[in-house]
Amino acid sequence: MFILLTIHSILRWVIVIFSVLAIYFLARELSSSEPVTKKTRITYISFAHLMTMQVFLGLAFLYQWYEMFGSFTRQQWEHTGIMLLAALVANIPQLKKNLSPAAYKKTALYSSITALVLVVAGVASLGFIRWLHVHGIF
Ligand code: HEM
Repeated sequence: MFILLTIHSILRWVIVIFSVLAIYFLARELSSSEPVTKKTRITYISFAHLMTMQVFLGLAFLYQWYEMFGSFTRQQWEHTGIMLLAALVANIPQLKKNLSPAAYKKTALYSSITALVLVVAGVASLGFIRWLHVHGIF
């Protein structure tokens, strides 16, 4: 059993919850000209940081895999490519400096929706059944 993959697998659900909450909060605040509330900012930043953490866990797992098997599967390459893009998209609002409150909300909303779609596709690229699976648990 690969403990890193089990953590990676569980963290996916935490990420889905944070991204859905971020989308909901941002959509609700979109029409106001005020800066995002603290709750929304913390939810979005947590989502983006968890995505980054997932990248490091995934890469650490790939290293462990390579040590054991010496090569990667096509699905692993596809999953990694899609998820690197998803993590980059999730971090766009943090990378763009000096956004106005309205621009920040719009950017964060589009980023969270796009990243969530990519996450759904990236897990499905391993086989859709992996959405019903936590490595080593069920
Ligand atoms: C660049 C970043 C990532 C890398 C390198 C990576 C790597 C991997 C690898 C190597 C596997 C095992 C595939 C196999 O051997 O069948 C895997 C599985 C998985 N990954 Fe990632 N991953 C990344 C990002 C993500 C993200 C952002 C999510 C979700 C938010 C995610 C969710 C999953 C899930 C759900 C599985 C299946 C686990 C299971 O079956 O229990 N990964 N990942």
